[in-house]
Amino acid sequence: MMLCVKNLTVQYSPHEPLVLQDINFSLEPKERVALIGANGAGKSTLLLTLIGVIKAVEGEISLGGIPMRQERLRELRQLAGMVFQDPDNQLFMPTVLDDIGFGLRNYGFDEKTIEARITAILTRLGIGHLKNRLSHKLSGGEKRLAALAGVLVMEPSLLLLDEPSAFLDPRSRRTLISILAGLPQAMLVATHDLELAQDLCTRVMLLKGGRVFVEGPAQELLQDHALLDQAGL
Ligand SMILES: Nc1ncnc2c1ncn2[C@@H]1O[C@H](COP(=O)(O)OP(=O)(O)O)[C@@H](O)[C@H]1O
Ligand SMILES: [Mg+2]
Repeated sequence: MMLCVKNLTVQYSPHEPLVLQDINFSLEPKERVALIGANGAGKSTLLLTLIGVIKAVEGEISLGGIPMRQERLRELRQLAGMVFQDPDNQLFMPTVLDDIGFGLRNYGFDEKTIEARITAILTRLGIGHLKNRLSHKLSGGEKRLAALAGVLVMEPSLLLLDEPSAFLDPRSRRTLISILAGLPQAMLVATHDLELAQDLCTRVMLLKGGRVFVEGPAQELLQDHALLDQAGL
């Protein structure tokens, strides 16, 4: 099992209602699952909880067999990489090259490995021409790919993507979808883009009011207009 989540409950503060309640699911290696649900359903919160940014009040998370504990976060963050909804929250080094290498340097990889991995990922994503550009001056689509490169270069087993197609024009969106479809990682993709969910994922998990409202094969669920309507989509 790549990811296993049991009875997960999350609350931002003791005075506020539960944001996620009794969430149970698992992901197999290489499996791609879409996380859908109306605004405020708890999709981003779930992803952030899975990388240990938000602490659960109850429940168990394990990643690649490693239970989520404070003392194992460094290891876990190498196993699971998250691409944030807004790339401006992810890209913070001056150039694309510095940004992509940041995580590897932080984890103490040697320069030779760093260089080899960066070259490989730039080629894979077709963004070699961007390496010396300033991150904050890239287009939306370029920023998204640079942010993805910085995550993939760590060679995670699980990718968490928050609204990956948000702010992209149709062409950048197609490019991104075909890149994602060719990756070996297991993925949990929070998205409003039901077509992307259909193209990329075999399974769908629909959140409503912080609970898993329904879960099942993407083919079936994404055609069920009454159900999607009921969930506010
Ligand atoms: N930092 C925060 N502090 C308090 N409440 C938050 C915070 N972030 C999100 N929430 C609340 O948690 C709920 C779920 O939000 P979110 O996970 O962003 O949903 P989604 O990504 O599905 O739109 C919403 O009611 C939202 O207002
Ligand atoms: Mg969100």
